[in-house]
Amino acid sequence: MVGSIEFDLIICGSGLAGLRAAIEAAKKNSKIKIGIVSKVQVMRSHSVSAEGGTAAVLFEDEGDTIESHIYDTVKGSDFLADQDVAKRLCEEMPQEIRQLDHWGMPWSRRDDGRIDQRNFGGYSFPRATYASDKVGFFEMQTLYDTCQKFENIEYLNEWFATSIIHDGNKFMGLTAIEISSGNFYQIKAKALIIATGGAGRIYSFSTYALSSTPDGLDMAYRAGMALKDMEFVQFHPTGILPSGILITEGARGEGGYLLNNKGERFMKKYAAAKMELAPRDIVSRAIMTEINEGNGFKHETGVDCMKLDLRHLGDEKIKEKLGGIREISIKFSGVDPADEILDIRPVCHYMMGGIHTNIDGATELQGVWAAGEAACNSVHGSNRLGANSTSECIVWGKITGSLAVDYIEKSTNSNPWPHHLVTLEEKRIYDGIFRGNGDVNPYDIKQELTDTMNEKAYVYKNEKNLIEGLKKIRQLKEQTWKHVDDSAKEYNTNFINVMELDSMFRTAEIVLIGAINRKESRGAHSRTDYPKRDDANFLHHTLAYYDPKEPIMKTHPVTITNYQPVERKY
Ligand code: FUM
Repeated sequence: MVGSIEFDLIICGSGLAGLRAAIEAAKKNSKIKIGIVSKVQVMRSHSVSAEGGTAAVLFEDEGDTIESHIYDTVKGSDFLADQDVAKRLCEEMPQEIRQLDHWGMPWSRRDDGRIDQRNFGGYSFPRATYASDKVGFFEMQTLYDTCQKFENIEYLNEWFATSIIHDGNKFMGLTAIEISSGNFYQIKAKALIIATGGAGRIYSFSTYALSSTPDGLDMAYRAGMALKDMEFVQFHPTGILPSGILITEGARGEGGYLLNNKGERFMKKYAAAKMELAPRDIVSRAIMTEINEGNGFKHETGVDCMKLDLRHLGDEKIKEKLGGIREISIKFSGVDPADEILDIRPVCHYMMGGIHTNIDGATELQGVWAAGEAACNSVHGSNRLGANSTSECIVWGKITGSLAVDYIEKSTNSNPWPHHLVTLEEKRIYDGIFRGNGDVNPYDIKQELTDTMNEKAYVYKNEKNLIEGLKKIRQLKEQTWKHVDDSAKEYNTNFINVMELDSMFRTAEIVLIGAINRKESRGAHSRTDYPKRDDANFLHHTLAYYDPKEPIMKTHPVTITNYQPVERKY
């Protein structure tokens, strides 16, 4: 039997964007009923693992400017960012830093009491506002704590949303599984904000939480919304070996060096002015070039790597400003960065792509917005600058929360509830997945899928590898997704895992097709067979629309206002 509940606004995802949206909506109208649906407990959202900073202009009196933040973001994006959207981010952020401060965020401070900022890659000014190196954790705690002030926010923790119900034009609700009971629900609502984060677990070497699978993106895609710019996957230069856990860019912002096997700070060859603080795409490529030219190291697991040296920063600074990564290095790699050099290599860290939205976070379906990493409002173009992601979550959390309330207040009665769509969804997931009977272990398939993405669509790409990758993903898809061994109803994580895997196939396919089609190198998308940026043919966004056979690919124009594309040098 299908359970039924009702809200005015559903926020799917309880990370930074979701919580910021909930606060804005609850503040604006205390009468609307808000439900936050999340497949994890709130403080287990991947946002808690953001480390190094949140970008904003705070020190105009010392020479920083909003204009400079906008230009750094656009240049960092390799001119694929929509420039009006970058402007919105940079203009909104300073007040959001202060707002968080008022809500209790323990920002690190200068001796004079002002909020401090540190250096980050690709910026012309130290602009990453920080709280030691646990920025996401403290921001999440601050927002969650603030959410508690509002009585109209309800939490559906450990609920797995499976599909969006709409009448072809307008949002009507969701279907979801309550994981603890295994019961299937329809959740009626007037508006939806999708804030389910990124999908970086389609790669096996990844900084993302294991829960960062593309179910939110896939749900929007299956409902007819486009996924945009999915070929642009960011590799953070410093994933620690062997786990891939993030070693924050703040480590280089505080003065850390990258070294090759000749003991050289090799970044001088690739970005002489910015050195280790060039944007991530450039540093990751430099690391892989050094490795490919024989200047790397072998980690004890046999993996090629490079070295990150923080020893000269000293024990005291490391403990005060980089305490989180010190703990991670000791616990997960057995290395104290105050005494020893770290083994690192580029790691999947962020997806510039996501659900296609306009500057307000509105999707193509009336009543649905997307915010944070799940969205692609095109603020980051083909390469995001570090510290602009937590900023994006906060700014578009606020914007979409407010706009969803305006919409709900004006909304009139909808068409009759489409029961047949709920029945169809029940059939898709219970007959197609839960009771399906393939003979392949889905956990092996997940490993193969994510390893394939790592091998075939890593920092440097080429046509041959991408085509092989796509072929492999399609072969895996044919054999796997009907295999749930555990027939339990309650807390069936086996079932949830296979549901996640189901979404990973479609998303990985879009990433690969987008990368095959984009025959140029731009930002994080680096093709050895097409090493140059090609503005004449590819200065456009990519859209992918759902079709049961394969995605329908289209293009979408880039908004250029003040800055004409030029060659990117650092
Ligand atoms: O390196 C970092 O701390 C990551 C920050 C970011 O992705 O914005």
